[in-house]
Order: sequence, then structure tokens, then C-alpha cells
Amino acid sequence: MPTKTEKWRRSLSLALRTIGAVSSPHTSPHPRSLPFTRRELHCGRGIWRGFLSLRKPWWGTDTFGSDIRGFGTESTMLKRNPKFSTLNDDDIRYFKELLGEKNVVQDEDALAAVNTDWMHKYRGSSKLMLQPRNANEVSLILKYCNSRCLAVVPQGGNTGLVGGSVPVFDEVIVSLGAMNNIISFDKVSGILVCEAGCILESLVNFLDQQGFIMPLDLGAKGSCQIGGNVSTNAGGLRLLLYGSLHGNVLGLETVLATGDVLDMLGTLRKDNTGYDLKHLFIGSEGSLGIVTKVSILTPPKLPSVNVAFLACHDYSSCQKLLFEAKLKLGEILSAFEFLDEQAMDLALNHLEGVRNPLPPSLHNFYVLIETTGSHETYDKEKLEAFLVYSMELGLISDGVVAQDLQQASSVWRIREGIPEALMKAGAVYKYDLSIPVEKMYDLVDEMRNRLGSSARVVGYGHLGDGNLHLNISCPQYDDKVFTQIEPFVYEWTSKNRGSISAEHGVGLMKAEKIFYSKSPGAVQLMASIKNLLDPNGILNPYKVLPRSS
Ligand code: FAD
Ligand code: MLT
Ligand code: ZN
Repeated sequence: MPTKTEKWRRSLSLALRTIGAVSSPHTSPHPRSLPFTRRELHCGRGIWRGFLSLRKPWWGTDTFGSDIRGFGTESTMLKRNPKFSTLNDDDIRYFKELLGEKNVVQDEDALAAVNTDWMHKYRGSSKLMLQPRNANEVSLILKYCNSRCLAVVPQGGNTGLVGGSVPVFDEVIVSLGAMNNIISFDKVSGILVCEAGCILESLVNFLDQQGFIMPLDLGAKGSCQIGGNVSTNAGGLRLLLYGSLHGNVLGLETVLATGDVLDMLGTLRKDNTGYDLKHLFIGSEGSLGIVTKVSILTPPKLPSVNVAFLACHDYSSCQKLLFEAKLKLGEILSAFEFLDEQAMDLALNHLEGVRNPLPPSLHNFYVLIETTGSHETYDKEKLEAFLVYSMELGLISDGVVAQDLQQASSVWRIREGIPEALMKAGAVYKYDLSIPVEKMYDLVDEMRNRLGSSARVVGYGHLGDGNLHLNISCPQYDDKVFTQIEPFVYEWTSKNRGSISAEHGVGLMKAEKIFYSKSPGAVQLMASIKNLLDPNGILNPYKVLPRSS
């Protein structure tokens, strides 16, 4: 009788023999289906509109006047800063002259969409969205707003998850979507220069034709923009291999609150002349300037991509598997994602067309491993040897290796679809934490113990980067549940030397919590930099920094 490992070895080699379809140099190496596209966001189809019609804002609609905003107990009551002016007819006239009628949006329906975030959790009451077409127009908009003390929210694809992309009160929305030109691409160096409003997926498609890929990839790629990615320092699914945007972004053009255009649009890999100012804007969430152009280093599209979806009995096995994967797959390991049973259950129940790849029952944990390399046979052998070895060690209890593009895409759909599944399941409290890997799942267990049956605690994330997405799902937002979660979740993270924002940013959600991860001295210096670059504080007010700063 063949042992379980022998049987698996046989099926693995079969699977690996046919995986050539995924590895073809003429197909996209990351064939993932998208949860939504930009068109769906705006045409009344897809999940976004579904949420708009199904879900009520969790703070209710008429509880507060437009000068005070309450975001449940998440942050205390916020008051509109009276130093900001309110729009008048002269302002509208100026903007129409500058941008033309159609780029000055006052239509209520159009404004409803851009006043509300992807989760439908944060909602502003802006009466105006401006759509500049170039950096000069952005400059004139900001110069004018600064002189009038009109507050501004820069907005990209509006997929941010921390309430940073929408107004809190009546801030003017500056939408970058019309600035979507690719400026240059150098095939020798792989350096792409483009405008900030380019949608990530359109850059992926452009580069695919050239034999290159973007160094970042995320589930929101059909809507998010490169300017938004840079401004949030988005991490995503490929950071493990290609590193963060602090490494890949070579240059930026930004417009400061005063309207001054700051040209830092270098295309050099090495440039040690003075302070590297672009890093201030990467991850500054629209609070220091508006990013208008991006220069980014893109890696070549490698011909061999393999995807395995594995089941593990416990978290300790997932951890050991990561250790072994780093050791044995080394330079070809491009993603190491994990999800727990609750996350899998949500995906199976709420995502259309998703089927359990490891039936019949659910496993405690799942790991998605992707390898990306240049040598098909070598990569497959390496992955196969690693899987057999891990099975023998007892780290994996079951698993499949995608045999074609469609299979690879459907296992990625499970992982990438979890945020969408959570939204469909009801209200969700989202936490995006960096925690030392060995401690990471303790928090999920502790949270489950605290909440009992009152909520569903879901854990998934970028295990390879030490990034846990802790999500607490309930039928509706509930203050009793919330007080069990916060401040506990932040205290626990801080005590365990973690960060309360691994990749989503601070936004409005965590502006008052920043001290859990940064010292008072560091926050004070951030406030001084903000004050220097934006003396009137018009750029994305109420976000990132605490009121006290
Ligand atoms: P927006 O949401 O429009 O804005 C985000 C912030 O950036 C705001 O503060 C805004 O003011 C500012 N901003 C936007 N554009 C500019 C600009 N040109 N200049 C200055 N400031 C600007 N994030 C991850 O890190 N990893 C993930 O894996 C990931 N997956 C996601 C999956 C889903 C389904 C969803 C809905 C979100 C996900 N996110 C993820 C969060 C989000 O997609 C990222 O933060 C993304 O980078 C935001 O880009 P955006 O264009 O939508 O920006
Ligand atoms: C993800 O990794 O899926 C994203 O960061 C979104 C989320 O955390 O829900
Ligand atoms: Zn993530």
C-alpha cells in the first residue's frame, strides 16, 4: 500500500507536469480575478452598489449636524475646524474657469459615491469634487484653496480601508482619476514613469505587453490608483519578493498645499544627494502633498509561476512552514498568505463561484504559496521537493498545486476575495497589524475568548510579511462588541512590539491611536513637518496625526 506521502508525491508530479500553462511567458504570471472594476464602482453594478443600497452607515444618518461627526465610539466626536472656509459662488466660478464645467462636479449622486468609502463606514458631506487633468491644474487648485483656507481631500480609487480617502465634513475632493497617462517606459532598466491617476490594473496590463510586472499587487487593483498606492505605501501580495514601495519608487512629482510643484521625479536607482524627500510622501496619505507623477522600478515578468494551496492542522505548522519555505524555496518564494477556517468559511459562503479546493470538510488553517522564477523545471522540482518534505514533517495535512491558469486564479480568488466576503457578511471591524509571527495568532485566539458568541473573529493576511488582518464580523455594528475590541487590540499589539498599521495607513480611523506605535517625539516631529509643508493644514485634515499635535 502506498503511504499518504507517496500518493501525494505521485499526484504532485502529475500536477506539476501540467502546470506549464501557468508558466507560459505569454500569459500573465499573476492570473487573479478581480473583486470589482472601476466601471462597477460607478455604474451601479457589482459589490459597491450592492452595499450602498443594502447597508446603512453605522453612525446613522441624522444623528449629527454637518458640523459634528460621530464615528461611533471608534473616535470621539469630531468638530469641524472653524478656521476652514465654506465654499461660495466665487469659488465655484473660479474652479469652472480653471477646469471647465464638466470637471467641477456638484451633482448629488456623483458626490454621494465619492463622499462614502469602500466599506460604507465613513461618510463626508462634500459639495464639490474637482477633476484636474495635469499637475499645473492641481497646483492652481491648491494655491487657490490655500489662499481661501478651503480644506481638501485628495482621492484616488477610494479603496482605502481607514477612512482617509473621503471627507469628514465638507472638504473639497480632488480626484486624480483623469490624470492617467503613461509617460515613459524604459525596457532596459524597467523604469516606468506615469501619472498618479493610473489604475494599478491598467499599469499591470501595459507592462504585461512589455514583458514586465508591477512590483505590487492587491485585491483592489481594478480600482486603486498608483498615486493612492504610493500615498498609502500599500503592501499587498507581492511584497515578500519585491519589497515595499519605499524601495521601488524611484521618484515622485508632488504638489504642495501652497501650490508649489516639487519635482523629485528621478529615475535613478542610486542618488545620495541630500535628504531623500520622496520618502516623506510615500505613506503620508495625502496629508503633505498631492502626488501627481510616479517613477517606479518594475521587475521583468518571469516565465515560471506556481501556486500551491495547502491545509495545516494548527498555526504552529503554518509558522514552521513559512520558516521552511524561506529556507527551501528561497529566491523564488513570491507569496506566503494564510487564512483560518473562519475566513475560508466566509469565502465559500459569500463569494460567487468559489469552491472548496480541499474538500470535503474545512481545515483549521490554509496557506497559499506562490513561487516566481525563471527556470520552469528547476522551480517545479524545488516546489515539489519542498511540499513532499513538509508533508513528511507533518506540517501540511492536505494540498493542491494549481495545474493551469484557471486553477491558480481560483485559489487566489479565495484569498483575495476575503475582504469582499466580509463586507457581504455584515458589519466588520477591521484591524491591520504587524506582529512578530510567533505571536500573531495568539491575538486571534484571545479575541475569540473575549467575544465569545457575540461576534465572528476572522484571521488572514500576509504571513510572509508578519502582517495579520484581524477582522471581527457581526450582523451590525454594536458598541458592546466594540468596547471589548478597543483599546484591547491596540494595547495588545503595542505590548507585543507590533504596529497598529502594517499597510493600510492611519487615516481617520487611527489618527488618535498613533501613540500605540510611535513615540511622542516622533509624532511631534511629524506634526512639525506637516506644519512646514502645509501651514494652514488644508490637506486631508483630521487624518493621520492626532488632534493634540
Ligand atoms: P484612496 O483610497 O483614494 O486614498 C487612500 C489615501 O491616499 C487617502 O488618504 C487619500 O487622501 C490619499 N491619496 C490618494 N491618491 C493620492 C494622491 N494622488 N496624492 C496624495 N494622496 C493621495 N492595501 C494594502 O496595502 N494591501 C492590500 O493587500 C490591500 N488589499 C485591498 C483589497 C481590497 C478589496 C480593498 C478594498 C482594499 C485593499 N487595500 C490594500 C487598501 C487600498 O486598496 C490601498 O490602500 C490602496 O493603495 C489605496 O489606493 P486608492 O487609489 O484607492 O487610494
Ligand atoms: C488584504 O490583504 O486582503 C487587504 O489588505 C484587505 C483587507 O485587509 O481586508
Ligand atoms: Zn493586506
